[in-house]
Amino acid sequence: MNRTVAALMLGFVIAAPYASAQQATGELNAKQLQGRQVFAQSCGVCHLQPSLGVKTYGPPLNKTSAAGNDAVMRVIIANGSDRMPGFKHYLKPAEIDAIVAYLRTVPAPVVRAANEAQK
Ligand code: HEC
Repeated sequence: MNRTVAALMLGFVIAAPYASAQQATGELNAKQLQGRQVFAQSCGVCHLQPSLGVKTYGPPLNKTSAAGNDAVMRVIIANGSDRMPGFKHYLKPAEIDAIVAYLRTVPAPVVRAANEAQK
C-alpha cells in the first residue's frame, strides 16, 4: 500500500465518526432524542470523543455495539463490566431503553467509510 492510499484511508477513518455524529442528529423520535441526552450525560465521559483524535476510555458505540443485540446491550448498561460501572441503580429501565434506541440510530463508522470509499 503506498503512502497516499494509506493517508486517504486514515482520513476516512478519522472523518467517519464526525459524519455519523451529524447524521445521527437528523430525524430522531422522542425516545431516541431522550436516549441521546441521557447518553451524553451519563456515558459521554467514557464513550464520546471530546474532540477529534482524542482516544476515549470506552469504545465508540453505534448500531453494531453489543453484537447488535438490544437485550445484550441492556444487560451491559445495567450491570457494567470490569471496566465500566453498572447503571441499574442510577438509570430507569425506560432511560436505558431510550439509550439503546438512540445507539441503534448511530451508523457504524468504519463500515460506512468502506462503503463510501467504494463509490
Ligand atoms: C467509566 C467509563 C464508562 C462509563 C461512564 C460508561 N462506560 Fe460503557 N464501557 C466502558 C468500557 C471501558 C467498555 C469496554 C468494556 C470492557 O472493557 O469491559 C464499555 C463498554 C460498553 C458497551 C459494550 C460495547 C460492545 O460492543 O461490546 C456498551 C453497550 C456500553 N459500554 C454502553 C454504555 C452506556 C449506555 C453508558 C451510560 C449509561 C456507559 N456505557 C457508560 C466504559 C464506560
